[in-house]
Amino acid sequence: MAFFDTVIRNGTVVTASDTMVCDVGIKNGRIVALGEHIEEGSTEIDATDLLVLPGGIDSHVHLEQPTSDGSVMADDFESGTRSAACGGNTMVIPFSLQERGESLLNSVQEHHDRASGKCHIDYALHAIITDPSEQALVKDLPEIVKGGITSVKIFMTYENMALNDAEIFRVMEATRHVGALTMVHAENFDAIRQMTERLERAGHTGPRGHADSRPIVVEREATHRAISFAELVDVPLFVVHVSGGDVIEQIEWAKRRGLPIYAETCPQYLTLTADDLDSMPTEGAKYVCSPPPRDVANQEACWDALARGVFSTFTSDHCPFVYASDTGKQIKGAQESFKYVPNGIPGVETRLPILFSKGVSEGRITLNDFVALTATNHAKIYGMYPQKGSIAIGSDADIAIWDPKKRVTLTQDILNHNCDYTPYEGMTLTGYPVVVMVRGRVVAKDGKPAGEPGYGEFVSRGRSSLVPDR
Ligand code: URP
Ligand code: ZN
Ligand code: ZN
Repeated sequence: MAFFDTVIRNGTVVTASDTMVCDVGIKNGRIVALGEHIEEGSTEIDATDLLVLPGGIDSHVHLEQPTSDGSVMADDFESGTRSAACGGNTMVIPFSLQERGESLLNSVQEHHDRASGKCHIDYALHAIITDPSEQALVKDLPEIVKGGITSVKIFMTYENMALNDAEIFRVMEATRHVGALTMVHAENFDAIRQMTERLERAGHTGPRGHADSRPIVVEREATHRAISFAELVDVPLFVVHVSGGDVIEQIEWAKRRGLPIYAETCPQYLTLTADDLDSMPTEGAKYVCSPPPRDVANQEACWDALARGVFSTFTSDHCPFVYASDTGKQIKGAQESFKYVPNGIPGVETRLPILFSKGVSEGRITLNDFVALTATNHAKIYGMYPQKGSIAIGSDADIAIWDPKKRVTLTQDILNHNCDYTPYEGMTLTGYPVVVMVRGRVVAKDGKPAGEPGYGEFVSRGRSSLVPDR
């Protein structure tokens, strides 16, 4: 009987720090050997001329999240993790949303129930706090941290979600107390409302108004404010979905001052622009997300910051709504004003191939940077390293084998999400994942699902590498 369950033979193994040609031996779901000419496995995979990378971890996705406007997310935990697997991911971290007036503990339990038994790949949860009551912060938060949810997202915009300054301050104090990481969606809600009214009065109600109502200054201002509060409360802060140069300047300003401020960016800020929201007649709704895509100069600023290590992670912010549906992008009212179009675009399946092609294949970032930005740093920052995020002895065998030469044109019909469009339709890429395995079991092959719902397990997370042990 073979010693290993699976051997991946003769591939180029890449971690965040090293690149080596070797075999990978897998037993009982974990990596147990790395070396030349290792013993036989029950299953042998020939990875000659292929890359063997840690499976992608997408630490910013929205699945089956409740909404307050009648819109319905296109992907649940089943379809969202299926799509993620086909795009080279072995783990996702979706959000558990506490609705206003709802108990934080209940909201987490509800999301556990939605996810349990459905996922194709492993998953964890972040908690969104929209109602920072005494009960939520003092009683419930410590419980959810004990249950392995060690990061909290807060919003500075959106009706029914935006926290005021005092609330932001209190959430940060609470996360400091329990050793959780605070993540922030930084956009100034009041300014966006004023801008929206101004645009509507002038008759600019089409999807492009979404981008015009929230120019980068509203993101820059909120980012600066959030950084300032984090400094006052003395907590690390993770700024999500950064869209361009002015915000990057704020992040770098904070880093220069020695503050523990970290950030991510997403494919939409590298490849789309606000002009896409002008697509006729209302197709621009397909690109409505917040913050909105900016312009080419801001795309370049994001690429430059990725290459210089300003961003710690690269995520999709997958937030899928069907376009041709009255519970999706064309929800009632959406013809009247952009403000009714649900915010968010699909991208969990396309995140890695886009960064691989436009980043690695086109020479903007190294392969090791790619691994750090898409897997290893997520595992460290969200408290799962070295179980997840690396190819190392003892780590879970979460592996994506890539063909760096494979040419793929992204089209809706090759994708596996439940959305009816991709914002990246027609984009031709070089490099695609060909085999994806979670804990040693193949979950996707050649861009198609090969596993089953329910195989993915909840991963209880520990303390973030960014949060000091006080
Ligand atoms: O437009 C977006 N990004 N929707 C998802 C929710 C969020 O703000 O992350
Ligand atoms: Zn957000
Ligand atoms: Zn998001």
